[in-house]
Amino acid sequence: MAGTLLLVGATSDIGHAVAARYAQAGWRILLAARDPERAQRNADDLVARHRAEVGLLRLDILETDSFAAWLDGLPALPDTVVCAVGELGDQGRAEVDPTHAEGVMRTNFLGPSLLLGLIAERFAARGSGAIVGISSVAGDRGRGSNYVYGAGKAGFTAFLSGLRNRLAKSGVRVVTVKPGFVRTRMTRGLRLPPLLTGEPSEVGQAVYAAAQGGGDVVYVRKIWRLVMAVIAAIPEPVFKRLNL
Ligand SMILES: NC(=O)c1ccc[n+]([C@@H]2O[C@H](COP(=O)([O-])OP(=O)(O)OC[C@H]3O[C@@H](n4cnc5c(N)ncnc54)[C@H](OP(=O)(O)O)[C@@H]3O)[C@@H](O)[C@H]2O)c1
Repeated sequence: MAGTLLLVGATSDIGHAVAARYAQAGWRILLAARDPERAQRNADDLVARHRAEVGLLRLDILETDSFAAWLDGLPALPDTVVCAVGELGDQGRAEVDPTHAEGVMRTNFLGPSLLLGLIAERFAARGSGAIVGISSVAGDRGRGSNYVYGAGKAGFTAFLSGLRNRLAKSGVRVVTVKPGFVRTRMTRGLRLPPLLTGEPSEVGQAVYAAAQGGGDVVYVRKIWRLVMAVIAAIPEPVFKRLNL
Protein backbone atom coordinates (compact mmCIF):
# COMPACT_ATOMS: atom_id res chain seq x y z
CA MET A 1 0.00 0.00 0.00
CA ALA A 2 1.38 3.44 -0.93
CA GLY A 3 1.88 5.99 1.83
CA THR A 4 3.98 9.07 2.56
CA LEU A 5 7.77 9.04 2.58
CA LEU A 6 9.74 11.71 4.44
CA LEU A 7 13.23 11.91 2.93
CA VAL A 8 15.73 13.86 5.04
CA GLY A 9 18.72 14.91 2.95
CA ALA A 10 16.79 15.56 -0.26
CA THR A 11 19.77 16.88 -2.25
CA SER A 12 21.66 13.63 -1.68
CA ASP A 13 22.26 11.46 -4.75
CA ILE A 14 21.40 8.33 -2.77
CA GLY A 15 18.39 10.08 -1.23
CA HIS A 16 17.08 11.03 -4.64
CA ALA A 17 17.33 7.43 -5.82
CA VAL A 18 15.40 6.35 -2.71
CA ALA A 19 12.69 8.96 -3.37
CA ALA A 20 12.46 7.84 -7.01
CA ARG A 21 11.92 4.21 -5.95
CA TYR A 22 9.10 5.21 -3.61
CA ALA A 23 7.58 7.59 -6.19
CA GLN A 24 7.62 4.77 -8.72
CA ALA A 25 5.53 2.73 -6.26
CA GLY A 26 3.00 5.58 -5.97
CA TRP A 27 4.09 7.08 -2.63
CA ARG A 28 3.68 10.75 -1.75
CA ILE A 29 7.10 12.29 -1.10
CA LEU A 30 8.09 14.93 1.45
CA LEU A 31 11.58 16.22 0.71
CA ALA A 32 13.54 17.91 3.52
CA ALA A 33 16.77 19.77 2.75
CA ARG A 34 18.75 22.52 4.43
CA ASP A 35 18.43 24.47 1.18
CA PRO A 36 15.09 23.52 -0.41
CA GLU A 37 15.86 25.58 -3.52
CA ARG A 38 18.66 23.15 -4.35
CA ALA A 39 16.26 20.22 -3.85
CA GLN A 40 13.76 21.69 -6.35
CA ARG A 41 15.43 19.94 -9.29
CA ASN A 42 14.98 16.55 -7.59
CA ALA A 43 11.36 17.40 -6.77
CA ASP A 44 10.71 18.34 -10.42
CA ASP A 45 12.28 15.07 -11.56
CA LEU A 46 9.96 13.01 -9.32
CA VAL A 47 6.94 14.85 -10.69
CA ALA A 48 8.07 14.56 -14.32
CA ARG A 49 9.10 10.90 -14.21
CA HIS A 50 6.55 9.47 -11.74
CA ARG A 51 3.80 12.10 -11.49
CA ALA A 52 4.52 12.06 -7.77
CA GLU A 53 2.88 14.34 -5.24
CA VAL A 54 5.90 16.12 -3.75
CA GLY A 55 6.31 18.61 -0.87
CA LEU A 56 9.50 20.54 -0.05
CA LEU A 57 10.56 21.45 3.49
CA ARG A 58 13.58 23.15 5.08
CA LEU A 59 15.54 21.25 7.72
CA ASP A 60 19.14 21.65 8.88
CA ILE A 61 20.21 18.49 10.69
CA LEU A 62 22.46 20.54 13.00
CA GLU A 63 19.52 22.55 14.39
CA THR A 64 18.56 19.89 16.88
CA ASP A 65 16.61 22.29 19.15
CA SER A 66 14.10 22.91 16.35
CA PHE A 67 13.28 19.25 15.64
CA ALA A 68 10.20 18.86 17.88
CA ALA A 69 8.52 22.02 16.54
CA TRP A 70 9.47 21.04 12.98
CA LEU A 71 7.80 17.65 13.40
CA ASP A 72 4.71 19.30 14.90
CA GLY A 73 4.51 21.43 11.75
CA LEU A 74 4.48 18.52 9.27
CA PRO A 75 1.27 18.27 7.25
CA ALA A 76 0.87 14.69 8.53
CA LEU A 77 3.03 12.07 10.22
CA PRO A 78 4.72 10.12 7.38
CA ASP A 79 4.57 6.32 7.09
CA THR A 80 8.28 5.93 6.39
CA VAL A 81 11.25 8.19 7.05
CA VAL A 82 14.65 7.77 5.41
CA CYS A 83 17.63 9.80 6.62
CA ALA A 84 20.28 10.19 3.90
CA VAL A 85 22.12 13.08 5.56
CA GLY A 86 25.86 12.66 5.88
CA GLU A 87 29.22 14.38 5.50
CA LEU A 88 32.45 12.58 4.62
CA GLY A 89 34.57 15.53 5.67
CA ASP A 90 38.33 15.70 5.40
CA GLN A 91 40.10 13.26 7.74
CA GLY A 92 43.40 15.16 7.65
CA ARG A 93 41.72 18.44 8.48
CA ALA A 94 39.61 16.82 11.21
CA GLU A 95 42.82 15.69 12.94
CA VAL A 96 43.91 19.31 13.52
CA ASP A 97 40.63 21.24 13.39
CA PRO A 98 38.19 20.21 16.15
CA THR A 99 35.45 22.42 14.69
CA HIS A 100 35.58 20.49 11.41
CA ALA A 101 35.70 17.15 13.24
CA GLU A 102 32.73 18.19 15.40
CA GLY A 103 30.72 19.13 12.31
CA VAL A 104 31.36 15.72 10.72
CA MET A 105 30.42 13.89 13.93
CA ARG A 106 27.30 15.97 14.52
CA THR A 107 26.15 15.62 10.89
CA ASN A 108 26.60 11.85 10.78
CA PHE A 109 25.63 10.96 14.34
CA LEU A 110 23.93 13.49 16.60
CA GLY A 111 21.58 15.20 14.15
CA PRO A 112 20.23 12.07 12.43
CA SER A 113 19.98 10.12 15.70
CA LEU A 114 18.11 12.83 17.60
CA LEU A 115 15.70 13.46 14.73
CA LEU A 116 14.94 9.78 14.14
CA GLY A 117 14.58 9.26 17.91
CA LEU A 118 11.83 11.88 18.08
CA ILE A 119 10.11 10.45 15.00
CA ALA A 120 10.30 6.99 16.58
CA GLU A 121 8.33 8.25 19.59
CA ARG A 122 5.56 9.47 17.31
CA PHE A 123 5.55 6.29 15.25
CA ALA A 124 5.42 4.18 18.45
CA ALA A 125 2.46 6.21 19.77
CA ARG A 126 0.67 5.51 16.48
CA GLY A 127 1.80 1.87 16.47
CA SER A 128 3.26 1.87 12.94
CA GLY A 129 6.00 3.28 10.75
CA ALA A 130 9.37 2.47 9.22
CA ILE A 131 12.60 4.32 10.00
CA VAL A 132 15.62 3.89 7.74
CA GLY A 133 19.03 5.31 8.61
CA ILE A 134 21.73 5.36 5.93
CA SER A 135 24.83 4.50 7.91
CA SER A 136 28.09 3.07 6.56
CA VAL A 137 30.49 0.15 6.65
CA ALA A 138 32.97 2.81 7.82
CA GLY A 139 31.24 2.51 11.21
CA ASP A 140 32.00 -1.22 11.50
CA ARG A 141 35.67 -0.62 12.42
CA GLY A 142 37.68 2.56 12.84
CA ARG A 143 40.40 2.95 10.19
CA GLY A 144 43.20 5.49 10.13
CA SER A 145 42.07 6.95 6.82
CA ASN A 146 38.53 7.97 7.88
CA TYR A 147 37.87 7.37 11.57
CA VAL A 148 36.17 10.69 12.28
CA TYR A 149 33.47 9.95 9.68
CA GLY A 150 33.56 6.29 10.76
CA ALA A 151 33.07 7.17 14.42
CA GLY A 152 30.03 9.27 13.52
CA LYS A 153 28.56 6.38 11.54
CA ALA A 154 29.42 3.89 14.31
CA GLY A 155 27.46 6.02 16.77
CA PHE A 156 24.53 6.22 14.35
CA THR A 157 24.61 2.44 13.77
CA ALA A 158 24.58 1.80 17.53
CA PHE A 159 21.73 4.25 18.05
CA LEU A 160 19.63 2.57 15.34
CA SER A 161 20.40 -0.85 16.82
CA GLY A 162 19.17 0.24 20.25
CA LEU A 163 16.08 1.88 18.80
CA ARG A 164 15.24 -1.27 16.85
CA ASN A 165 15.71 -3.40 19.95
CA ARG A 166 13.48 -1.15 22.09
CA LEU A 167 10.72 -0.83 19.49
CA ALA A 168 10.69 -4.43 18.25
CA LYS A 169 7.20 -5.07 19.67
CA SER A 170 5.75 -1.62 18.92
CA GLY A 171 4.87 -2.03 15.24
CA VAL A 172 7.75 0.27 14.22
CA ARG A 173 10.49 -1.04 11.92
CA VAL A 174 14.00 0.36 12.28
CA VAL A 175 16.42 -0.42 9.45
CA THR A 176 20.15 0.26 9.15
CA VAL A 177 21.45 0.47 5.59
CA LYS A 178 25.19 0.21 4.87
CA PRO A 179 25.69 1.04 1.21
CA GLY A 180 29.41 0.26 0.77
CA PHE A 181 30.99 2.46 -1.90
CA VAL A 182 28.44 4.26 -4.10
CA ARG A 183 29.11 6.53 -7.07
CA THR A 184 27.77 9.90 -5.83
CA ARG A 185 28.85 13.49 -5.26
CA MET A 186 30.35 12.31 -1.94
CA THR A 187 32.81 9.91 -3.59
CA ARG A 188 33.53 11.93 -6.74
CA GLY A 189 37.26 11.88 -7.52
CA LEU A 190 37.95 8.80 -5.34
CA ARG A 191 39.30 5.62 -6.95
CA LEU A 192 36.71 2.96 -6.11
CA PRO A 193 36.96 -0.83 -6.73
CA PRO A 194 34.22 -1.74 -9.28
CA LEU A 195 33.13 -4.98 -7.56
CA LEU A 196 32.53 -3.14 -4.28
CA THR A 197 30.97 -0.03 -5.79
CA GLY A 198 27.26 0.39 -6.44
CA GLU A 199 24.94 2.90 -8.06
CA PRO A 200 22.47 5.06 -6.11
CA SER A 201 19.57 3.13 -7.69
CA GLU A 202 20.80 -0.08 -5.99
CA VAL A 203 20.59 1.67 -2.64
CA GLY A 204 17.13 2.99 -3.50
CA GLN A 205 15.90 -0.53 -4.20
CA ALA A 206 17.59 -1.96 -1.09
CA VAL A 207 16.05 0.72 1.16
CA TYR A 208 12.59 0.17 -0.31
CA ALA A 209 12.77 -3.61 0.09
CA ALA A 210 14.15 -3.44 3.64
CA ALA A 211 11.57 -0.91 4.83
CA GLN A 212 8.79 -3.23 3.60
CA GLY A 213 10.19 -5.99 5.85
CA GLY A 214 13.25 -7.21 3.97
CA GLY A 215 15.88 -6.92 6.71
CA ASP A 216 17.14 -5.08 9.78
CA VAL A 217 20.77 -4.41 8.87
CA VAL A 218 21.32 -4.31 5.12
CA TYR A 219 24.62 -4.38 3.24
CA VAL A 220 23.54 -3.19 -0.21
CA ARG A 221 26.12 -5.33 -2.04
CA LYS A 222 26.15 -8.62 -0.12
CA ILE A 223 29.92 -9.00 -0.51
CA TRP A 224 30.37 -6.10 1.94
CA ARG A 225 29.03 -8.21 4.83
CA LEU A 226 31.84 -10.72 4.20
CA VAL A 227 34.47 -8.02 3.69
CA MET A 228 33.55 -6.29 6.95
CA ALA A 229 33.37 -9.60 8.87
CA VAL A 230 36.96 -10.31 7.79
CA ILE A 231 38.10 -6.76 8.65
CA ALA A 232 36.37 -6.95 12.05
CA ALA A 233 38.08 -10.28 12.81
CA ILE A 234 41.65 -9.01 12.31
CA PRO A 235 43.36 -8.87 15.74
CA GLU A 236 44.16 -5.32 16.87
CA PRO A 237 47.97 -5.87 17.06
CA VAL A 238 47.88 -6.79 13.34
CA PHE A 239 45.19 -4.29 12.37
CA LYS A 240 47.08 -1.28 13.74
CA ARG A 241 50.02 -2.04 11.42
CA LEU A 242 47.89 -2.19 8.26
CA ASN A 243 47.65 0.79 5.96
CA LEU A 244 43.85 1.07 5.73
N1 LIG B 1 28.48 7.56 -1.43
C1 LIG B 1 28.95 6.58 -0.70
O1 LIG B 1 29.89 5.86 -1.11
C2 LIG B 1 28.35 6.29 0.65
C3 LIG B 1 28.78 5.13 1.29
C4 LIG B 1 28.25 4.81 2.53
C5 LIG B 1 27.32 5.65 3.11
N2 LIG B 1 26.93 6.79 2.47
C6 LIG B 1 25.96 7.64 3.14
O2 LIG B 1 24.83 7.80 2.31
C7 LIG B 1 24.19 9.05 2.63
C8 LIG B 1 23.98 9.84 1.35
O3 LIG B 1 25.24 10.16 0.80
P1 LIG B 1 25.49 10.48 -0.75
O4 LIG B 1 26.53 9.55 -1.22
O5 LIG B 1 24.21 10.55 -1.47
O6 LIG B 1 26.20 11.88 -0.64
P2 LIG B 1 25.68 13.37 -0.87
O7 LIG B 1 25.03 13.47 -2.21
O8 LIG B 1 26.85 14.24 -0.56
O9 LIG B 1 24.55 13.54 0.26
C9 LIG B 1 24.78 14.04 1.55
C10 LIG B 1 23.51 14.75 1.99
O10 LIG B 1 23.64 15.22 3.34
C11 LIG B 1 23.10 16.53 3.38
N3 LIG B 1 23.56 17.32 4.51
C12 LIG B 1 24.83 17.52 4.93
N4 LIG B 1 24.83 18.35 6.01
C13 LIG B 1 23.53 18.66 6.26
C14 LIG B 1 22.87 19.46 7.21
N5 LIG B 1 23.56 20.15 8.15
N6 LIG B 1 21.53 19.54 7.19
C15 LIG B 1 20.81 18.88 6.25
N7 LIG B 1 21.37 18.11 5.29
C16 LIG B 1 22.72 18.01 5.29
C17 LIG B 1 23.57 17.14 2.06
O11 LIG B 1 22.89 18.35 1.84
P3 LIG B 1 23.59 19.58 1.01
O12 LIG B 1 23.35 19.28 -0.44
O13 LIG B 1 22.85 20.78 1.49
O14 LIG B 1 25.05 19.58 1.36
C18 LIG B 1 23.20 16.00 1.13
O15 LIG B 1 21.82 16.01 0.84
C19 LIG B 1 25.12 9.75 3.64
O16 LIG B 1 24.65 9.51 4.94
C20 LIG B 1 26.44 9.05 3.43
O17 LIG B 1 27.25 9.12 4.58
C21 LIG B 1 27.42 7.13 1.25
